[in-house]
Amino acid sequence: MAHPTYPLTTPRLLLRPVTPGDLDDVHAWQRRPDVVRWMRGARPRMREESRSSVAAMAAEDALRAEGDCLTLAVVGDARVIGAVELVWRSRVDSTAELGYVFHPAHGGRGLATEAAGALLDWGFGEFGLHRVMARCHADNEPSARLMARLGMRREARHVRSYRFRGEWADQLVYAILADEWRSGAG
Ligand SMILES: CC(C)(COP(=O)(O)OP(=O)(O)OC[C@H]1O[C@@H](n2cnc3c(N)ncnc32)[C@H](O)[C@@H]1OP(=O)(O)O)[C@@H](O)C(=O)NCCC(=O)NCCS
Repeated sequence: MAHPTYPLTTPRLLLRPVTPGDLDDVHAWQRRPDVVRWMRGARPRMREESRSSVAAMAAEDALRAEGDCLTLAVVGDARVIGAVELVWRSRVDSTAELGYVFHPAHGGRGLATEAAGALLDWGFGEFGLHRVMARCHADNEPSARLMARLGMRREARHVRSYRFRGEWADQLVYAILADEWRSGAG
């Protein structure tokens, strides 16, 4: 079983597992159409749906087996402002997939970049990953910019490759390797 020593800290943030008490903060972003706009299969959640989501995320506190998701609440400005996650895609290839979601009230300050960077530090440094990839809808420009800011390389644009809200959509694939992360992070 692998997980960071909690909490993970950065200059402006604290990252720790989600707890049931985070419901109000998590629902504050899950209820917003602008937040779920580019997320596959997602629609704004009712409060009870967020309660189930928070319970599911709270269980994602460690990587125990391939396929597991590690989800961390990002605490800043004295509340949970977003979440970052790592899905362990392959044990043999030491590969994981990065995900993130933040309340727009806390956007535009580099906080998502800072939180995702802390998770990558743990994934490459402690957990021993070789490669981290991330994907987004080709029109999700803030997400693509975030991946680029992290130093991830755009490796593919899969054209009309997946179903998104009833239509074929393009998907961007970004990735970064452990040695690239280390040299970039200095
Ligand atoms: C993807 C998402 C987390 C990006 O949020 P964000 O606010 O753009 O990202 P950051 O918090 O890292 O802030 C970066 C922005 O702040 C600016 N910034 C200000 N101070 C900064 C600093 N100290 N460091 C880095 N960037 C800084 C950057 O220039 C950047 O703005 P730009 O993209 O206009 O150039 C957010 O849009 C989101 O949650 N979207 C909804 C969920 C979603 O789509 N998730 C991805 C599914 S694939």
